[in-house]
Amino acid sequence: MRIDHVVTSGVFTLDGQEWEVDNNVWVVGDDPVVIVDAAHDAAPIAAAVGGRTVTAIVLTHGHNDHINAAPALAEAVGGPPVYLHPDDLMLWHQVFPGSNPDRWLEDGLAVGGLTVLHTPGHSPGGCCLWDGAGTLFSGDTLFRGGPGNTSRTFSSFATIIESMQTQLLGLPAQTVVHPGHGDDTTIGDEAPHLDEWVARGY
Ligand SMILES: [Fe+2]
Repeated sequence: MRIDHVVTSGVFTLDGQEWEVDNNVWVVGDDPVVIVDAAHDAAPIAAAVGGRTVTAIVLTHGHNDHINAAPALAEAVGGPPVYLHPDDLMLWHQVFPGSNPDRWLEDGLAVGGLTVLHTPGHSPGGCCLWDGAGTLFSGDTLFRGGPGNTSRTFSSFATIIESMQTQLLGLPAQTVVHPGHGDDTTIGDEAPHLDEWVARGY
């Protein structure tokens, strides 16, 4: 399966604070493709699509840095539906008041060959996308080195740990993990560290 990786830069805003961030965006498939996240800047993402058919734009969660290019991106790549889990609608509305995503993610839903795994904790509607074989797109739920940040509004450390245990760490060890920021990892590299994460509390 072809995967194109785009990195875009911008500002993550929550709780009245701002952070400069680099985001990973994934264009998944040969043709057609699914786009995982719509961060900051539609143009380089549309360039990576390169005229292929886009069946869906899937947002791993509703934080502004993962969704802020979604309407412009949809318009640039032929108008595919934008998907978000409904439990993150309040975050969507912080960026796009008065509008809604086109469709809802739910656990087990199949989108363009990827299966949705609802993995709340970083945010209530956080989701990962699994290809059923060797690849996971983990959003801000699982990074190289541990779980995503749960120190801010709408996050829960206990919940993200439960998501790890029930949804992610039982996937095949060789599964490659493509996160929403930073470097790839594998399930096999991360799963042995669960007890350390619980002990340190992040
Ligand atoms: Fe996030």
